[in-house]
Amino acid sequence: EEIGLDGATVIPGAIDVHVHLRDPGFPHKEDWATGTAAAACGGVTTVFDMPNTNPPTSSVAAVRDKIARAEEVAHVDFGVYGNVCDTNLDALEPMIAAGAVAFKIYMGSENTLVPAPSDDTILSALEIFGRHGLRTTVHAENQSILAGRGRRLKAAGRSDAAAHLEQHIDLAEVEAIGRVALFSRAAGAPVHIAHVSSAQSLPVLAAAKRDGTDLSCETCPHYVTLSVADGARLGDNFMRVKPPVRGPEHRAPLRRALFGGAIDVLSTDHAPHRPEEKTRPSIWDCAPGFPGVETSMRLMLTAVASGELTLGRYVEMAAEAPARLFGLAPRKGHIDVGSDADIVVLDLARHNRIDAALLHSRGNATPFHGIETIGLPVRTMVRGRTVMCEGRIVSAASGACVRGRD
Ligand code: NCD
Ligand code: ZN
Ligand code: ZN
Repeated sequence: EEIGLDGATVIPGAIDVHVHLRDPGFPHKEDWATGTAAAACGGVTTVFDMPNTNPPTSSVAAVRDKIARAEEVAHVDFGVYGNVCDTNLDALEPMIAAGAVAFKIYMGSENTLVPAPSDDTILSALEIFGRHGLRTTVHAENQSILAGRGRRLKAAGRSDAAAHLEQHIDLAEVEAIGRVALFSRAAGAPVHIAHVSSAQSLPVLAAAKRDGTDLSCETCPHYVTLSVADGARLGDNFMRVKPPVRGPEHRAPLRRALFGGAIDVLSTDHAPHRPEEKTRPSIWDCAPGFPGVETSMRLMLTAVASGELTLGRYVEMAAEAPARLFGLAPRKGHIDVGSDADIVVLDLARHNRIDAALLHSRGNATPFHGIETIGLPVRTMVRGRTVMCEGRIVSAASGACVRGRD
């Protein structure tokens, strides 16, 4: 495809290593067609889909089924995460062979589809992945270690039970990061910490890296853009996300760490839900998470426009680092720009306002509704083919499954 790009700013497409596209199991929230259309419109050319679908991606059959679903309708390239549980250790190597790009371990989980495995399972799994050079993504939000206390408070009719648990959320994240850093060292396996949400985690991550642990980490737009104060605008229940968004005393250091490079990767934890699932009267009944793939690049380009973030650092955290850490780059052999290029054309001067109604995601309940942005991805090309132009999907679905290493 030949297009005139004179004077335009062109960057590599974003690689979002943390999205929940909900298919199979929750198509009312999202599916592969809507989720990858949203990704293409957000300048994302590759997504890694999380395994907490129904059924969860915990078997060879589930990996194959998910890849087949995605191949039919995906607008961008995709990787499929496998899930680790206490009963699937023997299936992990066959799941790699079946095409899982990486694996997810929940250090704590209240989700019965993806219960947290035991410490011994985590260590055994990391030994397997270490042998394959695969980096494992770890959900280090383990508030559920206090789930017993939460249940007792709820049973006692305490409406402030959620707040009581969240008091300890910083320590719960620090605990999980410290524990998995130990396992990573013991197993000789690289580990990636998902959605770092607490400023208290930053020195722990830095110390582990200094000690030579092969640890990388990500944070997401909501942790560096929002704070609990946004609950006044959005509703505290709507704000629910795991791990929770904290106060400005966390947001500022996380933002500096991401923009400065101490946090390696920007992902989104794209976790779409229907608006009615986000606005129930009890916070316990409100679904946690927000859509993110379509708004992340715009929010970051706005920081570029203000001079707070360089475009070079943005490209590093959104594309280069995820490609390198998860084995998508460098590729061996010859690269042909015409047929291999995953690129995004930017209009850095475009002023715009985020509008939930215009998002392609089915679960379009975004906390960024109404926010003014400067800078917009205006064309997304996947392997040399334009899939999005000026906010519209312009070609038939041709997303392909990606594998780490070749
Ligand atoms: C995620 C979801 O909805 O799948 N929600 C969230 O708040 N991050 C689950 C998760 O990542 O724990
Ligand atoms: Zn998570
Ligand atoms: Zn997630």
